[in-house]
Formats: sequence, C-alpha cells, structure tokens
Amino acid sequence: MIRLDKYLCEVNIGTRSEVKELIRKGRITVNGDVCKSPDRKINESETVCLDGQTVSYAVFHYLMFHKPAGVLTAARDKKQPTVMDYFRDYPGRDLNPVGRLDKDTTGLLLITNDGALSHMLLSPKKHVPKTYEVHLRDPIDPDACKKLEEGVDISEAEPEPVTAPAKVTVIEDRLIHLTITEGRFHQVKRMLCAVGNEVTGLKRLSMGSLILDEALQEGEYRPLTGEEEALLLTYRNSQQ
Ligand code: URA
Repeated sequence: MIRLDKYLCEVNIGTRSEVKELIRKGRITVNGDVCKSPDRKINESETVCLDGQTVSYAVFHYLMFHKPAGVLTAARDKKQPTVMDYFRDYPGRDLNPVGRLDKDTTGLLLITNDGALSHMLLSPKKHVPKTYEVHLRDPIDPDACKKLEEGVDISEAEPEPVTAPAKVTVIEDRLIHLTITEGRFHQVKRMLCAVGNEVTGLKRLSMGSLILDEALQEGEYRPLTGEEEALLLTYRNSQQ
C-alpha cells in the first residue's frame, strides 16, 4: 500500500506539490471515482487515472508538438517564449524537446522524458532521417538538386566535412522536400546557401518514423498514438 500522492510522484506525474494540485482539482480517479485525498492508500490492484487515462509505473510521455514560428527550442528564456512554455500545465516531469528547431522554423517536434529515445534520435551515428518542407527564394534547378543530394560544403568559420547524401523532392519551382540524416546547426539553411539559394520558410514534416499530424494546428500537441509510439520504440530498439 502506498499513499496516492506518493504513488503519483513515483510514476513521474509530477512533484509532490504538483500532484497534490491535480488531486485537489479532481483530475485523479481511483477505480473510477474522483479522489481528493492525497493520503488515500493505494494497492496494486487499484486503477488510478489522470484525466481518464490510466497511470502506471514507468510512465514515459511522448508528445507530438506542432512548433509555431517565433518560439525558441529551449526549456526557459527570460525574454522570449519557448516550446516548453506550452507544456507548463502538462502533468509530466523531465519533459524535453528532442533536438532543436530554429526560432523561425515550424513543424514536428517530439517532446518526451524518454532520455534513451531522445539520445538515439539525435545520435549522429544513427542517421535518423528528417524531412523538411523548404520554401526557396529562387527556383531550384536540377544541378542544385544533384549537389544537395551528393553533399555540399557548408563550412563557415571552421572547416567541416561536406554534408551526407540527402534526398530532394521538387514539389514546385520554389518548394522542395529535403531529407537529411544529420542535425548540424542551421543545416538546411546552410545547405541551400551553399547552392546559391536561400530558405524563406522551413517546416519539419517528419523525424524517423514519426510524421507531423497535419490536423495539429501550430502550437498544439497530442500524445503519440499507440501505433506511432510502438513504431518509434521498435525503431529505437532495433538500432541499439
Ligand atoms: N535546419 C535549419 O537550418 N534549421 C532548422 O530549424 C532545422 C534544420
């Protein structure tokens, strides 16, 4: 037997004060009945839910976020809005964005407390593909596509290796889908710059097996579906 508030902390729902607040607000049920007593003793056979969803040990949260423009990919910032500001009321601890999108980039950002998955998705050795919708200043030509696919020199102050082979799909004259398997700083913008063009709009469409749900408006998030989560985790496990 364990106290309800302690149990909720242990399954990573929040800090002691956060879970007490959830209990006070009536968001926790035990066996289907709202329970407002943090000291209620819970045993293993009982079902504890938060907002109708069963909580259990080893709670990992996997959230698909449609990042809007104008928001930093950071935990906190004194002056500017950050992606984690959208999750202040979300009852999960240690949530972090997986990777970084520039302030003006929109699109898919995975938010999770699963450090191992995050590490795998970001590891340069794993070559996880990321596809971007890239809006361009000038029409793209076949020669530029070929260069982008073969690898380009994006060195600035310091020399860097050329980029790994990429995939380009031309959608319109000034709109391509670019799939890269690295995650260097401002990589897409620098790749287009290297072929004499300029990115005027950038949106991430996918990362590994995860595809941005277009039903999500910018600034909205939702938990991954069971299928999305299973696919992503299979991907992780098979790559270890
Ligand atoms: N490449 C960029 O240049 N910016 C991003 O935000 C992501 C990839």
